[in-house]
Amino acid sequence: MLVLSFLSFLLATQAFSAPSHNKHSCQVPASALHLPQNQSQLISPSLPPNYVALGVGVQNYTCSASGNYTSSIGAVAELFDISCLYKSSEFSKIQDDAFKIWSQCPNNNPSESTLISRLHHNWGLDVLGQHYFIVNPAGGLSPKFDFTSSGSTAGNVNAFVVTAKVGDIPAPTGHQDVDWLRLNGVSGKLASQVFRVFTKAGQPPASCSPGSPPISVKYTAQYWFYGSSL
Ligand SMILES: *[C@@H]1O[C@H](CO)[C@@H](O)[C@H](O)[C@H]1NC(C)=O
Ligand SMILES: *[C@@H]1O[C@H](CO)[C@@H](O)[C@H](O)[C@H]1NC(C)=O
Ligand SMILES: *[C@@H]1O[C@H](CO)[C@@H](O)[C@H](O)[C@H]1NC(C)=O
Repeated sequence: MLVLSFLSFLLATQAFSAPSHNKHSCQVPASALHLPQNQSQLISPSLPPNYVALGVGVQNYTCSASGNYTSSIGAVAELFDISCLYKSSEFSKIQDDAFKIWSQCPNNNPSESTLISRLHHNWGLDVLGQHYFIVNPAGGLSPKFDFTSSGSTAGNVNAFVVTAKVGDIPAPTGHQDVDWLRLNGVSGKLASQVFRVFTKAGQPPASCSPGSPPISVKYTAQYWFYGSSL
């Protein structure tokens, strides 16, 4: 009897906390993601997102023999929970304001503590996880989102998603900003779909001297995660 009621207590608390996995996170409705209407690459999901993150990091590029930067060879970003900003006017411009801080940081390391403490101090943002690339079985690079060592998912080995790009539009804000993307999950339980939207900066210079080393270009973006099975 005691065991049973303890079990139902566990189930009840789980059901209660199911829509948002982070105790410091807030619910964001399905209608919150506004995508350009006249395109078919990025269609808003009909369910609410499980996580809404600000990504702060770098896009890496290599210089090709023909003297331009090839498409991104990977990225590294720290991901911050912005779901509780949803009802404030900061929500739609957090990527611009965070970029101002990030562009003044002397290094390219987004997990550096002063960046994290400034974002926490200014807007109460907490780290949700990290974004980086891994080598996939075909030998290419795949974007991964890893929440296994931060926030309320810390220690949960399934709290990650490795993705593949399925949709892409130029940033509506201009060619200086990296594309908006739709990614599908290929492994992990964190999400089945990820959108990279409201991007700020991150594009490489137009040309380079062949043989010059890879570069890292700072960017910020919002990442929206859907269809979590955690
Ligand atoms: C969609 O509309 C925006 C502005 O209304 C325009 O800048 C853009 O070129 C359009 N895209 C397509 C694919 O028609
Ligand atoms: C790089 O330059 C080559 C040759 O001019 C061109 O074909 C290619 O599209 C350029 N790539 C990018 C990413 O600009
Ligand atoms: C991208 O560049 C950063 C340094 O700017 C480096 O730490 C990271 O390992 C690079 N990642 C990839 C996938 O190239």
